[in-house]
Parts: sequence; C-alpha cells; structure tokens
Amino acid sequence: MTNIDIEQIVKQVLEGMATESTGCKNGACKCNESANSIPKTSRVAMLTELEHYEIKEYPIPELGDDDILVKVEGCGICGTDAHEFKRDPFGLIPVVLGHEGTGEIVKMGKNVTKDSAGKPLNVGDKVVSCMIFKDNPEITMFDLNKQNVGGADVYGLLPDDDVHLNGWFADYIVIRGGSTIFNVSDLDLYSRILIEPCAVLIHAVERAKTTGILRFNSRVVVQGCGPIGLICIAVLRTMGIENIVAVDGEEKRLEFAKELGAGNVVNFKDYKGNEALSEGVKEAFGGYLSDFAFQCTGSPIAHANIYKFIRNGGGLCELGFFINGGDATINPHFDICSKEITVVGSWVYTLRDYATTFDFLKRAKGIGLPIEKLITHTYSLDKINEGHETNLAMKGLKIAIINQ
Ligand SMILES: NC(=O)c1ccc[n+]([C@@H]2O[C@H](COP(=O)([O-])OP(=O)(O)OC[C@H]3O[C@@H](n4cnc5c(N)ncnc54)[C@H](O)[C@@H]3O)[C@@H](O)[C@H]2O)c1
Ligand SMILES: [Zn+2]
Repeated sequence: MTNIDIEQIVKQVLEGMATESTGCKNGACKCNESANSIPKTSRVAMLTELEHYEIKEYPIPELGDDDILVKVEGCGICGTDAHEFKRDPFGLIPVVLGHEGTGEIVKMGKNVTKDSAGKPLNVGDKVVSCMIFKDNPEITMFDLNKQNVGGADVYGLLPDDDVHLNGWFADYIVIRGGSTIFNVSDLDLYSRILIEPCAVLIHAVERAKTTGILRFNSRVVVQGCGPIGLICIAVLRTMGIENIVAVDGEEKRLEFAKELGAGNVVNFKDYKGNEALSEGVKEAFGGYLSDFAFQCTGSPIAHANIYKFIRNGGGLCELGFFINGGDATINPHFDICSKEITVVGSWVYTLRDYATTFDFLKRAKGIGLPIEKLITHTYSLDKINEGHETNLAMKGLKIAIINQ
C-alpha cells in the first residue's frame, strides 16, 4: 500500500464520520447531530420571586435561519444578579438571569457563518455573548474588524420572553440573529466564565491610560480585593506593571492579591485612621505614595480615603460604584485641587475591551497568574439558590453555576 492509498482511505473514513455525525437532514439548519441528542425541552432557572429561583422546563423552539442554539456549560454569578435576587430593583421578575455564561454551539441557522468579530462559527465552537450599549458611539463593533452589528439582544438581564431560553442560567440558550457573540473556543471553561468581569478591568485600565499617568514603572495602589480589585491587579501585572500594592481588610483576599501580582499588601484594619493608613501604603511602596490608584470597593469611605494614598500630580480611576452607593465626603482643596489629581471614572466596557479580554486571559495564564482560582465555588443549576446565598454571604470570590 502506498502513502497515497493510505491518505485516500483515511480521507474516506473521515468523510464517512462527518456524514454520520451530520445526522440532521433538515437543510434549514446546521447541526452536528447529534440532532437526536438535543432534547425537546430545556431547564432554565427562573427568578420567580425575591431570593427564589425555580427550575422550569420549556420547549426548545425551532431555530430561525440566523439563530444559534447553545448548550450552556457554565455561568458566573455577577453582582447584578445578586442585586436582582435580593431586591429586583428594575421589576424584572419573572426573569431568567445569567449573563456571564458560555457554552457550545449545538445547532445554528443556515445563515450563521461568523461571530461578531468575523471569526468563523461552527457547531462545536465555544461561545460567549456580550451586552451592547448601542447609545454610546464608542461601544460599537465598527472598530473591531470593521463590522458594525447593531440591534443586538442582551441575555440574562432582561425580562422573560415567550421562549424563555434567554438567560445563561439554563441548560440551553437561544441566541437570536444580530446578537453579539464571540467564538472563544481557544479558552478553557473557567476563563470563558471570567471574560465578562475581566472586561470591566480592561476598560478601567484603558480609562486610566487616558490620564497619561499610568506607566510601566508606576507605583499603583489597588483598593479593594474582591473579584474586581483582584482582576485589576492581574490586568496591571499582565501588562507589565510591577509595583502594585493591594489594600483590603481580609487577609485571605490579600494573600490572593499577592498570587495575582501584588508586590505588597496593606490590611486597613491594622491602622487607626486614614493618616496612619496612608503612611502604611507609603511604607509598602518603600517610602513613596502611589502614582496611580484604582478604587475597587463600593464603600464611600474607601473613596474618601484613597486620595491620601496618591502623590501630588497622580491619578485615580474610580470604578467601585457600579450602582449608587451613597455620597462620599472629600475635601476638594486638599484631595484634588492642590494636589492636581487627575480622576477618571470607569463603567462597564466597550466591545473592543471585550475582545482585548480574550487575549488578556491567555497572557495572564502565560505568565502563571492563577486567574481560574477566582472561581471559588461551583453549583449545579438545581442548586442555584444556594449559589446565590453563598454569594450574598461573601463566602467566596466568584461563584459559578456549572452544568454537568
Ligand atoms: N465599574 C464597573 O463597571 C463595575 C463593574 C462591576 C462591579 N463594580 C463595582 O466594583 C465594586 C467591587 O466589586 P467586587 O465584586 O470586587 O465586590 P466585593 O464586595 O467582593 O469586594 C469589595 C472588597 O473591598 C473591600 N473593602 C471594603 N471597604 C474597604 C476599604 N475601606 N478599604 C479597602 N478595602 C475595602 C472588601 O473587604 C472587599 O474585599 C462593587 O462595589 C461593584 O459595584 C463596578
Ligand atoms: Zn456581570
């Protein structure tokens, strides 16, 4: 037998396998089917009243030509989910939540060929969705591979629809044509679940860079070591900033801050009053105040305190208040004016930041940052209420729902 014969045989076998697995004879969709392995119904975790999800089962609908059916592998619990679970501030109940989700495409309409960045999409690819804020011209796909996807849907944040498969706390989700979706098959499951919160920090660092103060050799203080502050440290470290001091009151979190790249840590509980604390921060930098600071707590007191950690002419990125956390008292003369501090705010992210985040996660792993350890607890879908309770009790960092 010649090499050519062998190649022919292998080709025939592979083609045979491909035809067998493309069991769906319906020309209107592409599926790997496995079509018979897609169930007729899907479970969703629906928030039906405050602090209570109910597992409900709904039919998986016929897909439109532009739609995608994704088998959910996992989804992180976000602060927004926690607010909704506890208070339903926007009156969304009943609602299927979960927007930090990821899964595998199991079926797609015949028109679907590419993701929102122009990357090919196929059955078997791992994907994430993304929220779009269409009213902000910066937040557009136009800069990303010169495409502009408007009219995108948002998943896991909006009131329930008649199909019900519109949130990632579920077994399956239907992604409608025109939605923002990215092929992230080259990332592992935990990295994919962490994309959304990490994008918040990619954006914050981009905002910080606009001040012109943040440099490779800057002394940077990160206040607050919840997931947001910890990811902030990892992003700074991954972009080459080495001189980072983390401030928090929880020793365990401070220890993790070191693993993620903080060179030194300060426990604010060890200091009486902000003067002493700022001395502690100065000491942690070897006798200098910071050039730049990131405020990553939702505490107005922390906001008021942070100015004292920054040198004259330094910068501050305030990103700790995703929602209104109340007023903070500062002295504009001493804290901002006479020190000539440049302050920027940062809220959510742009689509461009989202794409940058995929590479950040690869680079973070590449330099050995244990980013996946941010996911401290996992629960199956039917234990989602417990997952939320663990989250509210602040027992872990990132809690995720993982489907078997
Ligand atoms: N800008 C955005 O788009 C955006 C997005 C998501 C979250 N957030 C905000 O970021 C904040 C942090 O999120 P998280 O998930 O990390 O929350 P978290 O509650 O898990 O973490 C906050 C951390 O701050 C610490 N802390 C509290 N007071 C402090 C003080 N005075 N000094 C130093 N540390 C202090 C706490 O011990 C805790 O570890 C939240 O308030 C959230 O609203 C903003
Ligand atoms: Zn989120």
